Amino acid sequence: MTHNLLILEGDGIGPEIVAEAMKVVDCLQSDYGFQAEIEHGLIGGAGVDGAGDPLPEATLDQAKQADAILLGAVGGVKWDSLERPMRPEQGLLRIRAGLDLFANLRPAILYPELVDASTLKPDVVSGLDIMIVRELTGGIYFGQPRGIRELENGEKEGFNTLVYRESEVDRITRVAVDVAKKRSSTLCSVDKANVLEVSELWRNKVTEICDEVGGINLSHMYVDNAAMQLIREPKQFDVIVTGNMFGDILSDAAAMLTGSIGMLPSASLNSDNKGMYEPIHGSAPDIAGKGIANPLATILSVAMMLRYSLNEGELADKIETSVRQVLADGARTADLGGSMTTSEMGNAVITVLKSN
Ligand code: IPM
Ligand code: MG
Repeated sequence: MTHNLLILEGDGIGPEIVAEAMKVVDCLQSDYGFQAEIEHGLIGGAGVDGAGDPLPEATLDQAKQADAILLGAVGGVKWDSLERPMRPEQGLLRIRAGLDLFANLRPAILYPELVDASTLKPDVVSGLDIMIVRELTGGIYFGQPRGIRELENGEKEGFNTLVYRESEVDRITRVAVDVAKKRSSTLCSVDKANVLEVSELWRNKVTEICDEVGGINLSHMYVDNAAMQLIREPKQFDVIVTGNMFGDILSDAAAMLTGSIGMLPSASLNSDNKGMYEPIHGSAPDIAGKGIANPLATILSVAMMLRYSLNEGELADKIETSVRQVLADGARTADLGGSMTTSEMGNAVITVLKSN
């Protein structure tokens, strides 16, 4: 079976890390019988520069046709002063919305070899394996009305709307429940129900779905406490389900538990398991073009793509095993305290993958 893949390099370190991930895809094709038709498209600042839009229509069309999408990263100072609709981040938000990729899975796994790369004490983080399920197409990121308006006294006021419908909470909860059932059936829903009505509704709906499905050990936690608990005793968590903005923040915090944000892949799925796969880190303008970014989050995103959208779980295992192996062999990019370049790290993974 031939898989149709769309590759969106994006901006900053995006092209560098995606190049390494594509070496992995090439290797799967040459050595493991993986068949793919590969297209490339523009998004983010590259879309603005190349086609006058952070999400050119052609890219969205390609994305709708594809079985899965691999994305590098978007954004950079060059485009920061453009009006909001032209900013690179809008391309990312629009492709998520345009494909209805409401379920964002962000695993935070500490590889044993990296226990000393974390800023937390080894006994706090060793063995860490958390899955954050972030709602991705609703909440304050998309709520209307939004804007900046001028008040009568001439003062300006910025405003956004945090809104969730029952149906949105329902579907993300069901995804989280499915994920939890494949693990320890423990789910922690994170909200701010002590202050926000939208969280009150969220909490009630999550409880209702879990009662209906049964067999889930559900707890609720306020987001401020969850942020603290993630740092204090992260291993108390297994699967976390939360809204768009809380999930954005908590997943960056969780990333640091694993030693480097350069290690974390993600999957963004719609209700048919069509997905877009991207590292959770950004375009890192400060190191872009230097060839020193860690490509492992992107390589691990390829593994998630194989597992969740392409039904190629064995190949996903091979990639993950190879990443583990190179880390065990001592391979380290700068973010992990080493000095390997982006392509040296990619090549190290390929060498192991070929011999597996
Ligand atoms: C992420 C990023 C994005 C987000 C930005 C780049 C729009 O931080 O994927 O976590 O906030 O969702
Ligand atoms: Mg983020």
